[in-house]
Amino acid sequence: MAEKKTWPKMQKMKAEGEKIAMLTAYDYASASMAEKAGVDIILVGDSVGNVVQGQDNTLPVTVDEMIYHTKAVKRGAPNTCIITDMPFGSYEVSIEEGVRNAIRILKETGCDGVKLEGGAERAALIKALTEASVPVMAHIGMTPQKIAQMGNFAVQGKSAEDAQKLLDAAKTLEAAGAVQVLMECVPTPLATMITDALEVPTIGIGAGNGCTGQVLVWYDMAGMYDKFCPKFVKKYAEAGKLITEAMAEYVSEVKSGAFPDEAHSFAMKNAEEILPRLY
Ligand code: KIV
Repeated sequence: MAEKKTWPKMQKMKAEGEKIAMLTAYDYASASMAEKAGVDIILVGDSVGNVVQGQDNTLPVTVDEMIYHTKAVKRGAPNTCIITDMPFGSYEVSIEEGVRNAIRILKETGCDGVKLEGGAERAALIKALTEASVPVMAHIGMTPQKIAQMGNFAVQGKSAEDAQKLLDAAKTLEAAGAVQVLMECVPTPLATMITDALEVPTIGIGAGNGCTGQVLVWYDMAGMYDKFCPKFVKKYAEAGKLITEAMAEYVSEVKSGAFPDEAHSFAMKNAEEILPRLY
């Protein structure tokens, strides 16, 4: 079994030019598969709202739900670094509330850190969390929790002014204590430049191959979610199609009586003797 990656070990991976593979998981089975596959970090993402709950966005997800899913993930992947998203509403009101929620997530789930969205405006919170011994991954660029304000999901940092803002935010959040910086929907040259400007590893999603590591939503990469598929998603399997076909075959065998057959049923040795005596 590969040894668990800690934040300092992953810092070393960046220094040695080794890539970090991160995937989301939301339950025991997916976490266990991710650990067997050698994933370095499992993200219990608030994308659970989209792919598991079927919501239109991540805003409805709660701290209790993140804790519920992270506990299941932890049981499935006890030897993998696990990071949990702080959901919308759990850290915006005050630093104190953010710290309290993050500590609760760490304490109740045994995860290894939290991820939260936002730019330089999150520096004070990240500093407070770091002082409280909570490792934080900063999530910059396209931040889905801003959907109500932004109205759509767009590539970030395309103008000189926005690119400068992202670079400044990354540096500010690193200085505040972020252990890693995740960039979503950032043009490859800018994401590469930010990666080179930081000491800490960067994780990209739609941010090209110059980042230290990559993350994908596992439902997306396995072909399990057909509502929406961003350009940056590579489908490594058509598991959704495979499972639908298996389910259809099951339905057909139940209807025809072919399932269950003898191999999937329990015999009763003395049935001929016992059953006639029942009333
Ligand atoms: O919630 C999530 O899965 C995420 C990834 C898309 C990075 O934040």
